Amino acid sequence: MQTKVLQPDADGIAEAAEILGRGGLVAFPTETVYGLGADARSDVAVARIYEAKQRPAFNPLIAHIANMAAARSEGVFDARAETLAAAFWPGPLTLVVPAAPQGSVALLARAGLDTIALRVPAHPVAQALLERFGGPVAAPSANPSGSVSPTMAAHVLESLSGRIDAVLDAGPCAVGLESTIVDCCGPEPAILRPGGVSRADIEAVLGAKLPRKPPQADAGKPLAPGMLASHYAPRARVRLRARSASPGEGILDFAGQLAGYAMGSPYADLSASGDVTEAAANLFASLRQLDATGVAQIAVAPIPGHSLGEAINDRLRRAAAGR
Ligand code: TXA
Ligand code: MG
Repeated sequence: MQTKVLQPDADGIAEAAEILGRGGLVAFPTETVYGLGADARSDVAVARIYEAKQRPAFNPLIAHIANMAAARSEGVFDARAETLAAAFWPGPLTLVVPAAPQGSVALLARAGLDTIALRVPAHPVAQALLERFGGPVAAPSANPSGSVSPTMAAHVLESLSGRIDAVLDAGPCAVGLESTIVDCCGPEPAILRPGGVSRADIEAVLGAKLPRKPPQADAGKPLAPGMLASHYAPRARVRLRARSASPGEGILDFAGQLAGYAMGSPYADLSASGDVTEAAANLFASLRQLDATGVAQIAVAPIPGHSLGEAINDRLRRAAAGR
């Protein structure tokens, strides 16, 4: 199959919605990363996502919807879920709630769970696509399972060209990290995956501290992607909290800490000014850029853990986990 590159204008969005309507796969921009979308109501269409991503079929997908009304028809929102949705939607937050009995999302998209992950994305192109399509769109990040998430259409094409019907190209993603996933099914809300909304902002809205450790998945029931130790993995080995770098190592820097070791080595600074939000937006593209140079190892400077730093450090730990 030839993968079409669609412009993010009315024609491109109409064509993307039409492809989704006949069960095809369309990668589309969100404010976090590019998603690989399919009609969430169709088991057949959803199966094609798992196939294209070569993803273990037990991993449930996020259903993207246009607004709160659509969310309420797919999930059961208690007071905490309502509060979080009101504060952060549209935006980089995913809520796991009990699936609504009359919901339309295919069981395969939920991997057979009686809960559902829902997100209203803020990106105008994602919004326009969801409005035009008029149904829930299942979309994991548009990359092969386990590899670095795409923050540009070119990243999507590198790995999925020929495996998907189309990609809507709207340039780089502003946040650059996946959404924060909050489980609202248990007695206490819990962060299953740190992401584009910081823990501090969520705690402020709920007026309560959230548990530090995500609940552990038991074998048959993975809770979030985070549960896979090795994820977001580049080809090169990744060495964390580096205070120096050796010749031949690629350098992923933050605020110029390792600039003195660059000396011709492949080098990228996530944020020269030390801004973690800017660093999040650059993380995946910089990892790809260093990996593409063919270095055997990437030394990563220490990155502060506040705000989006929690999610950055989470992704880097997974990138460093042995495969
Ligand atoms: O920013 C994002 O969240 C991006 C964009 C495209 O929206 N999507 C994304 O999807 O990161 P994905 O599939 O790579 O990660 C979503 C994770 C899944 O790996 C899954 O483990 C978790 O959400 N998830 C989905 N349904 C769940 C459920 N019912 N209970 C617990 N976790 C769930
Ligand atoms: Mg992913």
